[in-house]
Amino acid sequence: MSELEALEQRALAELQVCADEAALRAWNTHYLKGELDRAVKMVGSLPPAERPIYGKRANEVKKKLNEAYETAAAAEKERALERSLTSDALDVTLPGRPARRGRLHVSTQTLRSIYAIFADLGFQIYRSSEVEDDETNFGLLNMPEHHPARDMWDTFHTTKPGVLLRTHTSPGQIHVMRELCPQPIRVILPGMCYRYEAITMRSEIMFHQVEGLAIGERVTMADLKGTLIAFARRLFGDQRKVRIRSSYFPFTEPSIEVDMDCIVCSGEGCGLCKRSGWLEILGAGMVHPVVLRNGGYDPERFSGFAFGMGPERIAMLTYAIDDIRQFWSNDLRFLQQFGA
Ligand code: DAH
Repeated sequence: MSELEALEQRALAELQVCADEAALRAWNTHYLKGELDRAVKMVGSLPPAERPIYGKRANEVKKKLNEAYETAAAAEKERALERSLTSDALDVTLPGRPARRGRLHVSTQTLRSIYAIFADLGFQIYRSSEVEDDETNFGLLNMPEHHPARDMWDTFHTTKPGVLLRTHTSPGQIHVMRELCPQPIRVILPGMCYRYEAITMRSEIMFHQVEGLAIGERVTMADLKGTLIAFARRLFGDQRKVRIRSSYFPFTEPSIEVDMDCIVCSGEGCGLCKRSGWLEILGAGMVHPVVLRNGGYDPERFSGFAFGMGPERIAMLTYAIDDIRQFWSNDLRFLQQFGA
């Protein structure tokens, strides 16, 4: 009995000096679950006559220590909350930190504007592979082996003979025609192209192109002209004038190059247009009969137009970017200038 009393005194005294939650937990383990538990179980070893008195007292001690523990634990919880409120003080008047937003690459933005315009004109988007075979990139586009026009495109070849990185999106024309023949076609073919060239302000080894192809039973040069004028006005402004010059591409006949009046000087002559008043925006023409036939279309019955443009070039004209290397150099100071 006296041990029980001593235990109670000791336990209460020690509970007084428990300074934090860890100490309280240690106290709980040591006394309530340890010493006291053992003291309660002692009752079985006592002579039967002493058991009721001892048992009653043991239960009282147990109840008292339990209550003392609950009170101390609650008080400690209160103190812990107080401590955390003062140490992690939160200043609700501070302005928030805005989440940084990413943005689309200027090329992606330009591509999407181009897609939107051609979608309105009824063109669908068709994609084909960046890895091509020699035959589709050149041969089927009316450039048999050793054709001098192949020199217009310096080419990255792979280690596999006859397999190369497409130098332009034009081989996509063959893929669409072979897939859709003999249906009429109205598509654009966007994608990355590669050329084995020295990188300079004006030329890159990789760049996008957007190819266009329309085929039907009565597609004419007037349709091509109307389409391109509508495109230029939608992209660059209502008042744009378009000029057509004759040109040469092996896969179109006749071939043309299209200029528009300079967006900076409207034709007066300035640095951007090199005093000419005109900016070249794309190459185009009527699909060559050989190419139509290679795509499965009978040139006696079908005709078509095609065009190819460079979105990076268009972005350079739009934003007066004077160095094409900016596009892939990943300089955030450049990229961040193009919002949205
Ligand atoms: N493929 C040509 C190039 O890379 C661009 C081009 C010109 C595409 C005339 C055409 C076209 O479809 O008709 O320079």
